Amino acid sequence: MATGTISTPGRAKIAERTLRTDRWWLQPLITFTVLFLFIIYATWRAFANKYYVAKPYISPFYSPCLAANCEPGAGEVGIIGQWWKLSPALLILPFPLGFRLTCYYYRKAYYRSFWLSPPACAVAEPHKKYSGETRFPLIIQNIHRYFFWALLIFNTILTIDAIAAFRNPQGEWGHMGLGTLVLIANAVCLWMYSLSCHSCRHAVGGRLNHFSKHPVRYWMWTQVSKFNAHHPKWAWISLFSVAITDFYVLLVASGTITDPKFF
Ligand code: FES
Repeated sequence: MATGTISTPGRAKIAERTLRTDRWWLQPLITFTVLFLFIIYATWRAFANKYYVAKPYISPFYSPCLAANCEPGAGEVGIIGQWWKLSPALLILPFPLGFRLTCYYYRKAYYRSFWLSPPACAVAEPHKKYSGETRFPLIIQNIHRYFFWALLIFNTILTIDAIAAFRNPQGEWGHMGLGTLVLIANAVCLWMYSLSCHSCRHAVGGRLNHFSKHPVRYWMWTQVSKFNAHHPKWAWISLFSVAITDFYVLLVASGTITDPKFF
C-alpha cells in the first residue's frame, strides 16, 4: 500500500499524500490556531473567577450564575448552594462547550485541523483506520440535538442580560453604554448561531411527510434553511462575539477602561 493512504481495498494507489498544489494546509492551520487560542482564553477566564461583573454588564462565561459564590450583581440563582467553591463558570461551561464540540460544522473544522482526518479534501490522512461516527466514541456526537435545546435556555438568559444592560448600575432603566451594545450584539450572534443549527432545521421541519399539510412549519423550515446556509459563518462570529463580550466586561470590571455612556 502506498505511504500516506488508508488501506482501503479498491482505493487508487497514489504514492503522494496529495496531488493538490494549492495551499490546502492554510485553512486547517488557521482553524487550529484560532480554536487553540480561544480554548486557552476561555480556560483562563473560566478559572479566573473574577472581573466578570461590571454593573449592569455580566460576562457570558458566567451567566447564569448557578452557585452561591458569585460576584455581587451576577444575579445568582444559587441552586448549587454554598458547597461549590470553584469558579461558577465551570458549572455552565459544559453546555456551550458541548454544543460547540458536537456542532456539525465544528466537527468538520476540528476533525480537519486537530485530527487531520483528513486535513483537506483530496489530502490523505495519517490515520490507518477510520471508524466514522456510527460507533463509539464518536457516536456520542449525536447528543448535539439535546445540547441544542439546552442552548436555547442559555440564549434566552443572555438575551435577558442584554436587555438588563439598559439599566444603569443603580438598576434604573434608561441607560445605554457601549457595553449594552456589546451584550446585544453577542445575544444576536448567539441566536443566529443556534437558529442556523442543523438540529434546529430538523426540529422545525424534520419528520414531515407532507410540507403542504404543515404550512407554518414549512415556512419556518424555509427560513431556518436560509440561516443554515450561513451556519459556519455564525459559528465563527458567535465564537468571537462571546470572547469579545467577556473581554469587554473584564476590561470594565478591572478598571482598565471606562464604559462609554451614550445616555
Ligand atoms: S450544527 Fe452547528 S450548532 Fe448545531
